[in-house]
This record gives sequence, C-alpha cells and structure tokens, in this order.
Amino acid sequence: MSKAADVQVFVQHRHALTPSIDCWRLARRDGAPLPAFSAGAHVEVQVAAGLRRAYSLCSDPANTAFYEIAVKHEVDGRGGSRALHQSARIGTDLSIGAARNLFALADEPGLHVLVGAGVGLTPLIAMAHSLHRSGKAFQLIARVRQREDLLFAPLLEHGPWSDRVTVSYSSEGALALPGNAAHVYCCGPDGFMQAVKAHYAELPEACWHQEHFAGGAVSVAAEQGYRLVLSASGREIEVAAGQRLIDALRANGVACETVCEQGVCGSCVVGWQDGRPRHQDECLTDEDRQSYVALCCAGCDSDSLTLEL
Ligand code: FES
Repeated sequence: MSKAADVQVFVQHRHALTPSIDCWRLARRDGAPLPAFSAGAHVEVQVAAGLRRAYSLCSDPANTAFYEIAVKHEVDGRGGSRALHQSARIGTDLSIGAARNLFALADEPGLHVLVGAGVGLTPLIAMAHSLHRSGKAFQLIARVRQREDLLFAPLLEHGPWSDRVTVSYSSEGALALPGNAAHVYCCGPDGFMQAVKAHYAELPEACWHQEHFAGGAVSVAAEQGYRLVLSASGREIEVAAGQRLIDALRANGVACETVCEQGVCGSCVVGWQDGRPRHQDECLTDEDRQSYVALCCAGCDSDSLTLEL
C-alpha cells in the first residue's frame, strides 16, 4: 500500500465548461509525457497547503502529453474545489499523485453503457475515448438539467464518437436507458446512481460499476465508544459514541491525510493489529482488510483497536 511520489505539473490551460465547472489541462514544464493511466482513473491534486482532493481524469488516456480534470465549484463543499477555482490559474504549479483506478473498464465484449449526470460525466469521457479506440460497442448517456450545464458539449455533439452519445435533459422528462447492457458505468449524485442501478436491477453485480466521488459521505459515527491504541507509542485514544474514528484521532493531535473521506481514494489507509475493525470503504480488497483499514470510514466492533500509527 506504499504511495508513489507526487508528480510536479503546471496549469497549461484552463477554461470554463459550464457556469460552475472549469477544465484544467495539467502538463510537465519540461514537456515530458506524464505517466500512463487507464480510463476511469483519478489523481489526487494538492489544491492548497495540507489540502488534497481526488479528481477523475477526463482526457484521452492515449495522450499522456497532459492530463485534464474538470471540477465543479462546490460553494457549500469542504473547500477543495473553492481552493482550486480560486488559485489554480494558467501557469500555476501543482503537485499531483499517481493516477489510481477504482472505476476501470471491464475488458469484456458486449455493450458498455456509460451513464453520467453533471460533473459525474468526467471519468466517462476518458472511458468513451478508450472504448472508441478499442472498437468496443458503447453508448454514453449524459444527463443534465439544460444545455448550458453540458460539459464538453462540442466533443459530445461533434467529436469522433458523438454518434454514441445521448444527451438527456432532466427539464424535459424521464431518463431513457438502453436495456441490452453488458456492463454499466455510472457516476453522479447518489440519488441518480440509485435510480440508474434500479433500472439495471437484473444486471449481475460484477457488471455494475459506479464512481463515488460525487456521492455523499459514509456514515461512520461510532454507536458505542471504544479505545484506539497507537502501536508506535502505545498511546491510547478514546472514541466516544457518536464520534468518527478519524475525528477522535485528529482531536488528539494525530495528523491523518485524507482526500475523499468516503472510503474510495485510499489516502487514509494504515495497518491495524489487534481488535475488530468495521470496514466500510470501497478501496480495500478482502485480503487488504486483514492488515489495513481506511481510517476515514472505519468503525470498530471490539472494545479496542490497535492502529499502526
Ligand atoms: S480519505 Fe479516501 S479512503 Fe479515506
């Protein structure tokens, strides 16, 4: 679970996609290519001192001369998008982590259906580039309220795979989805993803893929109190009923790096030893969970839990 070193990039280009969503093109100053990535991957961006956020890559994976991210200015968000919108101008230097993919395309035949709402379209754009290049059957359904909210409108309407795109306006009625999907990839607000998943209730679980960054936070407050033991120092920290594990650590001065706080990105993962952690993340495999825990969304089913901190 070790993390690769950050890559230094600068903002080569920035432009507005919609009234609230901007696109940043990130490249190396020396013009060298960036590391390869696969469609559906995200990178962590250092948006301000001590503040990292994960954003899906929406550029064509075949072109590593630059990465592109599209970020909505969330006025009531946790501050990451605001920091990026305010400070990352053309020419600004940024640190980004290595691309990670928790939303990968399945390498299987059949129709791949990509369904996204609003800024949730971003990973699906990279997927459409990849599927088009590999000659696979796909359809992209973009759900937005009105045309001015449609990001990458010129690409979706006139690009090389525009014949595979359906734009669905919520102001005009219900979302129509193809019925013969082999794999479905969905990204958007929680309610939207639940509605799409309900439509594909017959689809095997392994054929349903969803991206969580646009969703809500995981509920991780403790029902009953428990004790954390930090293995490096032997220090003990109480987690009160109703408190999150990570909040108890921070309240006691333990620095915890987080990005998504939804159990998706893996930035808060540490080793654990004694106790019974309750895993609620989406980023660890069952095997990983024997030794690691994602602090941002973990609970505890025992009286104490020892963390490798
Ligand atoms: S902060 Fe992303 S998994 Fe915990």
